[in-house]
Amino acid sequence: MTQLPSHADVERFRAVVARRFGLQFDAGRLDFLAEVLRQRSAASRDPTAGSYLERVASLPKRADELAALAQQLTVNETYFFRNPDALRALTERVLPERMRAKESHRAPLRILSAGCASGEEPYSLAMTLVEAVPDLDRRQMEILGVDVNAAVLQRAARARYSEWALRETPEELRRRYFRAEGRELVLDPRIQQMVTFEEGNLIDDDARLWPAARYDVVFCRNVIMYFGHEVMRDVIRRIEQTLLPGGFLFLGHAETLRGLSQDFHLCHTHGTFYYQKRTSAQARARAVAVSAPAEDAAIVALPRMVEDAVSWVDAIRRASERIAALAGEADHPRHGDQAALAAAPPAVRSWDLGLVLEAMRQERFADALALLSALPREANEAPDALLLRAVLLTNRGELGAAERACARVLELEELNAGAHYLMALCREHAGDVAGAAEHDQTAIYLDPAFAMPHLHLGLMARRAGDLTGADAELAQAIALLPLEDASRLLLFGGGFQRDTLLALARAELAAVRGGR
Ligand SMILES: C[S@@+](CC[C@H](N)C(=O)[O-])C[C@H]1O[C@@H](n2cnc3c(N)ncnc32)[C@H](O)[C@@H]1O
Repeated sequence: MTQLPSHADVERFRAVVARRFGLQFDAGRLDFLAEVLRQRSAASRDPTAGSYLERVASLPKRADELAALAQQLTVNETYFFRNPDALRALTERVLPERMRAKESHRAPLRILSAGCASGEEPYSLAMTLVEAVPDLDRRQMEILGVDVNAAVLQRAARARYSEWALRETPEELRRRYFRAEGRELVLDPRIQQMVTFEEGNLIDDDARLWPAARYDVVFCRNVIMYFGHEVMRDVIRRIEQTLLPGGFLFLGHAETLRGLSQDFHLCHTHGTFYYQKRTSAQARARAVAVSAPAEDAAIVALPRMVEDAVSWVDAIRRASERIAALAGEADHPRHGDQAALAAAPPAVRSWDLGLVLEAMRQERFADALALLSALPREANEAPDALLLRAVLLTNRGELGAAERACARVLELEELNAGAHYLMALCREHAGDVAGAAEHDQTAIYLDPAFAMPHLHLGLMARRAGDLTGADAELAQAIALLPLEDASRLLLFGGGFQRDTLLALARAELAAVRGGR
């Protein structure tokens, strides 16, 4: 078949690809999908794209056609010693901790490279381990690389690479572990022997691929970014189950667990972010801390609600509904129905977080706090209400109390970007500039589109005389502020309008550049 398939066929193909591989293609990639569909149905001599799609949808897991599709649909970009910060965190923090944890039971240290592509990542891990622990007993170390694309795994097994794959490899390591043969660089067989490879699809609930509590460390970098949200969630849940308690997870630079899992503790060392699975005791303590109603799939934290909302009114409505659900009051007046609100008895109004938000918008912070205090106890303990309390207290300059509220939010939702930002303001106020910067950086890692922490970091850098840092952060704030959600600006903008914040950032940047 040489004709391009119909739009409906391409949409069906997109759904099949998502179901079989977890890969999500957005609307801008439909032409690419159409071309793959055309080629594959022609190659497999199916009379129509429709019949090809029917066949692919029901193929068994290891079918050759699925392997051919994986080869065409996956992005396999990788290279040796990618993100060296993560490798430093591995050797200096993770390895010593995991080796101590293993001391008593002599089990090998196990690392999984999930989505290992042509092997550069697991082989880099092996070289890193040998470098870090020269007297390492290699039998006590297991590294497994898994990928859905059999063709890249064949390349991994050959262990012969181009110069390009070694573009970030330190010269000394290149000399020690690679031998040139023609235009190829051959990896030392002793490093090759430390790694095994297996074909596997991360979205399969396969007990062989995901044995319970097996691994000390999982590297799954630059893989989940290609998946849809539900698939990401499922894969992270499986990684959590295959990790030992206290085991570590490394994601790619642009990937976070925000909105995906609360089962990990966020770590920030060596200039990089990674995660540690909570130990059973930590998980139990957390379960108590978030015992109903705070932790539940139905509970949406305020920042997310605000981000998802199309408008401020929508954000308020959602917040109100959420608190109403918490307080178990189904029948309540919608926010915006002013007559109903005015007529409503105080008991009905008490749960209405929308009123609190509205009072805040009018800068009636004391009223907003009073309304918040009138909420039922369980609603007041929910992360969104706590975060709102922290916002209000920050606006009133009560930063000690704001910090306590933020700390509580972070106990419940460690990956809450808004709470980290407010915490940064509180820490700076307490004179802890390093702590403030740490929280700002965490907020940015969790939500790269969040403008305010960049502005805050820029202002702090300028005060500290770090003009290069100030320049970069202020420029980033100026780029992000015009796109920042109006609702989030209202929450975190300190009472300033977008234009005022932009003018402030521009004036600061001009001063920084003028002072150089
Ligand atoms: C961009 S590469 C990342 C390689 C390496 N982790 C790194 O960061 O350099 C992504 C890899 O994930 C693999 N992958 C994508 N979907 C997968 C799935 N459902 N199961 C297993 N591997 C998958 C791709 O085949 C590809 O080799």
